[in-house]
Amino acid sequence: MTRRPTQLRSRAWFDNPANPDMTALYLERYLNYGLTREELQSGKPIIGIAQTGSDLSPCNRPLVELAKRVREGIREAGGVAIEFPVHPIQETGKRPTAALDRNLAYLGLVEILYGYPFDGVVLTTGCDKTVPACLMAAATVDIPAIVLTGGPMLNGWHDGERAGSGVIIWKARRLLAEGRIDYETFIAMAAASAPSAGFCNTMGTAATMNALAETLGMSLPGCAAIPAPYRERAQMAYETGRRAVALVHENVKPSDIMTRQAFENAIVVTSAIGGSTNAPVHLSAIARHTGVDLDIRDWERIGRDIPMLVNLQPAGAYLAEDFHRAGGVPAVLGELIAGDLIHATAMTVSGRSIGDNCAGQRSRNADVIRGLGNPMLPAAGFRILHGNLFDSAVMKTSVIDDDFRRRYLSRSDDPEAFEGRAIVFDGPEDYHARIDDPALGIDEDCILFIRGVGPIGYPGAAEVVNMRAPADLIRRGVETLPCIGDGRQSGTSGSPSILNASPEAAAGGGLALLETGDRVRVDLRAGRVDALVPIETWQERRVALEAAGGYPVPPSQTPWQELQRGCLEQLSDGMVLGLAVKYQRIAAK
Ligand code: FES
Ligand code: MG
Repeated sequence: MTRRPTQLRSRAWFDNPANPDMTALYLERYLNYGLTREELQSGKPIIGIAQTGSDLSPCNRPLVELAKRVREGIREAGGVAIEFPVHPIQETGKRPTAALDRNLAYLGLVEILYGYPFDGVVLTTGCDKTVPACLMAAATVDIPAIVLTGGPMLNGWHDGERAGSGVIIWKARRLLAEGRIDYETFIAMAAASAPSAGFCNTMGTAATMNALAETLGMSLPGCAAIPAPYRERAQMAYETGRRAVALVHENVKPSDIMTRQAFENAIVVTSAIGGSTNAPVHLSAIARHTGVDLDIRDWERIGRDIPMLVNLQPAGAYLAEDFHRAGGVPAVLGELIAGDLIHATAMTVSGRSIGDNCAGQRSRNADVIRGLGNPMLPAAGFRILHGNLFDSAVMKTSVIDDDFRRRYLSRSDDPEAFEGRAIVFDGPEDYHARIDDPALGIDEDCILFIRGVGPIGYPGAAEVVNMRAPADLIRRGVETLPCIGDGRQSGTSGSPSILNASPEAAAGGGLALLETGDRVRVDLRAGRVDALVPIETWQERRVALEAAGGYPVPPSQTPWQELQRGCLEQLSDGMVLGLAVKYQRIAAK
């Protein structure tokens, strides 16, 4: 290992004899809580610990304690740790949506990493958007960085069955709507799914994004899946701290790790794990800030024919502890590498390639992590659809169940297509107010639409597209209706919705022109979703909408909502702050 202490970025702050005034100013205040001149001036790398955990963020709260083991690892390897807070993101606790906070945390972290004397950083992650927020900032600043997730919760149990985060809530809200459980049971079921600190124990957005951080090469092998309370978690924290110091000495930066090959690997793994529909949004955002060209259609081109190997809720049966015991991400990668489906030479923060790390790894439970010869599904990637309602939308085909297939895809001559009558809701408040209104006459021939819930329409894009069917229909055995919208849905949802529609209604997308009662055709073979409305009528509606000033957008409630709305891109492009993308690798400039 070559040590290059004179190149340490932190020396511009703490040890710059050419500028004694500023060095003195920078130095004296960091001495005041007990750091010594020797620590700050002898060429030890200064390693930030970007702390995303707090009482406000239960999903990431284990990191408050784990940071102590990170510090010990940093210290042992000859570095100095400086821990600091990241703007909190709690997926389920933030109104109107935590999606507002991904870009805010990103901005804050960029300022900290750029403006303070860091040579490297440990990015702590957990809850959904903490992963992209940290990786986006690491990409922009491009100092050596390594991810440590706090890990998922233990398995939840209710009535002797696995109770998974989110999944049990979607189930319980159907039971409540049918009148089969009361409010107390609803809450008890929800609580049962959260038996310990940690992030969601299903393959929701958090488990997906942490698995993708590992796949991208940004965390040590095995990091993503270790449950928060397990001893291996704290051991991983220590090893991550040690490795952070080595990355500085080796001068390995995020731009060396997050290459086009790494992103292609991440798309493959998203299919193999049955990952969240939020993955395309967040992975696009990381790629945009890294400067890697990644198109929404790459998801279909690269990921579509990849089999689903991981049997975790919502697409399967098991939960986080089972996934870890079966071998976690390294076992999935090992199976995929054996099938030549991964760029095995992609480098990782371990200092070894992903092939070196994982080629020999295999599933330790063939029902939880399947082999390529016995997958959950043969082709599990997202479909990317387009048509006169939007230029692109995502459909997670791995959650299409037999009931949905029989009810919709098999009822016409074409087993890959169906038609329905549109029921259109303008935002979640409208949906909640009217879904059970008998006047709408909703039956199994209907397709539910929700619009006005994209990045601009409902600041940050709400997770509301997986709408439950009317209670009356559920009582008659129709559990789900097809759902389409310009918002997102929770990664824990098993609904085969067509979502992330871009451009959204508020940005002039065709969804704004749709009316309740229109016939809509979904053709999965052709990859199209179209309103079957005569072109003249469609154009007349467009003219009328424009004359009325476009699709109505509710006023912003906070300053950040307004600021963000002014420069936000669409979900298909990662919902990034457009003006931020040109700032790349700024620590080197
Ligand atoms: Fe935080 Fe699911 S709500 S990980
Ligand atoms: Mg979510």
